[in-house]
Amino acid sequence: MKERVAILGATGYSGRELVERLRRHSGIELVWAACRSELGKTLDQVQPGSPPQLLCSLDEVDFSQLDTVFLCLPHAASAEWGERALAAGCRVIDLSADYRLRSAELYKQVYGLEHPHPERLSQAVYGLTELHRPQLKRARLIANPGCYPTSVLLGLAPLKARGLLKGLVVADSKSGVSGAGRSATLANLHGEVAENLRPYAVGDKHRHRSEMFQELGGAADLLFVPQVAPCFRGMLSNLYVDLPEGDMHGLYAEFYAGEPFVKVLPPGEIASMAHTRQTNLCVISLHPMPEQGKLIVISSIDNLVKGAAGQALQNLNVARGWPETEGLL
Ligand SMILES: NC(=O)c1ccc[n+]([C@@H]2O[C@H](COP(=O)([O-])OP(=O)(O)OC[C@H]3O[C@@H](n4cnc5c(N)ncnc54)[C@H](OP(=O)(O)O)[C@@H]3O)[C@@H](O)[C@H]2O)c1
Repeated sequence: MKERVAILGATGYSGRELVERLRRHSGIELVWAACRSELGKTLDQVQPGSPPQLLCSLDEVDFSQLDTVFLCLPHAASAEWGERALAAGCRVIDLSADYRLRSAELYKQVYGLEHPHPERLSQAVYGLTELHRPQLKRARLIANPGCYPTSVLLGLAPLKARGLLKGLVVADSKSGVSGAGRSATLANLHGEVAENLRPYAVGDKHRHRSEMFQELGGAADLLFVPQVAPCFRGMLSNLYVDLPEGDMHGLYAEFYAGEPFVKVLPPGEIASMAHTRQTNLCVISLHPMPEQGKLIVISSIDNLVKGAAGQALQNLNVARGWPETEGLL
């Protein structure tokens, strides 16, 4: 029997990526592709090349007939629909921020809203696959990480695991404009983004900082500068940390040995957005600076794949006990 799934928000940037990857998965049937404003159209009318599946409204989705629901919705809307799906017994994989923070108080502080179902926060598994695989097995509620946190946390994880992170970590991160989603805003028009590199939420104001800080568990302080790069997709984080003693390449290579989706480049090679475009990979390069006492870690992902839809499917593969790479190669 195939896993019966729905995507709520199938016409958004991450929803479309998910449709593509589910098509390549032999164990999944996409029963409903739901959206809000393009009802009556088929997926391929919205995104040429997609299957000709009719789009439905979120209200038309019958959760009692589903195994898994992917939420590709803005935060706040996600928690509302997540509750309906969970109550009907579905597994929920949420790509929004609604289940990522463990404290309802922090959620209110960061998102300016009371969480409608704070009791769910302690039930959610944070879906950074490589770091939480045991908890993801058979998980019913998965909080897919943000794209910036995926690139930053994977870049720091080997150091954190060995207790080598200390002091202040500077994360200088660039994202393609698709990171902001498909809704129209002046700042994301081609004319504003092209041939520009625009920092935003400077001064640790970006919401993802709280998520990263939570997941670092107090191991280090974090200074985060996000920037919009003049491209549609891709994400690159340059991470500046204190240089620990020892062989950093050896440490990272050992930590990620056997991981299908994390690749540590050999010494001398430099990770770039091109290393990961359209893939579920995180590619990391390491640049020790002994004279300055610093280590530069460069971490590249595709924000729409490892940073969103790809990792969501990777998490379902783990939860179901399927090969982790199914649908993702
Ligand atoms: N883009 C990324 O790189 C990325 C990475 C990681 C996580 N995320 C998170 O994933 C979620 C989806 O992001 P996205 O970039 O795919 O967004 P998007 O392109 O703006 O798409 C949002 C989707 O949700 C629907 N929608 C919007 N508001 C809704 C509402 N109030 N009720 C019901 N449906 C609604 C939209 O349908 P209509 O267009 O028909 O209104 C659309 O299908 C967000 O929470 C985002 O933060 C995004």
